[in-house]
Amino acid sequence: MSISVDTLIIGAGASGLFCAFNAAAYGKSVLVIDHANKAGKKILMSGGGRCNFINRQVEPRHFISQNPHFVKSALSKYQPEDFIALVDRHQVAYQEREYGQLFCKHSAKDILAMLLNECRTAGVQIRLDTAVERICANDAGFMVSTKHKRNDLAITIQASSLVIATGGLSIPTLGASGFGYQVATQFGHQIIPTRAGLVPFTFTDKTGEMIKSLAGLSLDVVAYNDKASFALPMLFTHRGLSGPAMLQLSNYWQLGEHITIDLLPHQDMIQYLLDAKRAHPKQLIRTALTPLLPKKLITALEALLWQAYQDTELANLKDDIIRHIGAQLNAWTLKPSGTEGYRVAEVTLGGVDTREVSGKTMESRLQPNLYFIGEVLDVTGWLGGYNFAWAWASAYACAESI
Ligand code: FDA
Repeated sequence: MSISVDTLIIGAGASGLFCAFNAAAYGKSVLVIDHANKAGKKILMSGGGRCNFINRQVEPRHFISQNPHFVKSALSKYQPEDFIALVDRHQVAYQEREYGQLFCKHSAKDILAMLLNECRTAGVQIRLDTAVERICANDAGFMVSTKHKRNDLAITIQASSLVIATGGLSIPTLGASGFGYQVATQFGHQIIPTRAGLVPFTFTDKTGEMIKSLAGLSLDVVAYNDKASFALPMLFTHRGLSGPAMLQLSNYWQLGEHITIDLLPHQDMIQYLLDAKRAHPKQLIRTALTPLLPKKLITALEALLWQAYQDTELANLKDDIIRHIGAQLNAWTLKPSGTEGYRVAEVTLGGVDTREVSGKTMESRLQPNLYFIGEVLDVTGWLGGYNFAWAWASAYACAESI
């Protein structure tokens, strides 16, 4: 069996669906195919089931790419207000949380239903359970051979333009695959090496054990390295360190590097302990810290940072030693053994090199009428609705020009 469409989009996720109805609005016949049995699985899982679908303030600085200017044009053409207007039109109830993050009030299902409604109204066809076997460029565009995963029905699709919207590698159980990178490579594109992003850190040895013992504890910290700094909550878990501060920092971290955590960002701990020594010379360090940190954490830090002095009164500690301990509380430096990886990562860093893709249209500079949108590109957003912001903006830029 063979069919012909103007635009074939591979990937019925956030960017694929958004591109589909916008392209159809320009009068194109649009078919979206996906190998999964359901469209938009990641949307349903996002934001803890409430989908942080956009941020009120989206700027190029919220994105990581080898080519940082790439996002500018698409982000300026499709802005948060545009998506909010769409959400309002569909009467999707939402709420604003800290830092301008907009979440569904009820369920992420509302965002997926909105996208699918728009697709239906615009006449977009969606075929699920459809695996792509081969893509060939020809004079009329692309010939894509597909097979239905359940009934083995083979369909060849001829399309004038082909949009790759297959996302990144995070969470394979939600349909993630490296397919987009394979297609890019087939047409001569470079791939910026990929790694898991917005992902918790793992630790081994003594530090790992200590962190595990504090599972469930959350703390407002400043987490930083030489590339970025985030003042956000951090969460101790059975596997390592998580919470927004760690997820954000993971985007700027490479295996083998250190991270630093200011456990008491509002307090100069050197000065605090020196003052305590003067005011309460008989105090132990752990007693001096009691008003500032949870007891469990103080006990764990004591074993790690000042075990030799745990029973020494402040009066008997040299100022240099106090300074060293205070400095560590404001700059606890750790070396993660890794991250929890693609199994739980929210995003994939790296991807199709944006230097070979037009930032205005998302079209390949190497193969006419081939487009890449969303997370498959080497564009990764911060936590806070920025990854969907990129999915919408890149899809819109593509749909406009296709
Ligand atoms: P997306 O992953 O949405 O879609 C890709 C589609 O391609 C999938 O449907 C997949 O099945 C399909 N596909 C893959 N390989 C294929 C193949 N070989 N053949 C056919 N189809 C194929 N972002 C945000 O801004 N706010 C948030 O709240 C969250 N929360 C969140 C939670 C969790 C758990 C995760 C994993 C991720 C998030 N994100 C997020 C990130 C966000 O979900 C992500 O960046 C976007 O969904 C990316 O949109 P894409 O369309 O590029 O890929």
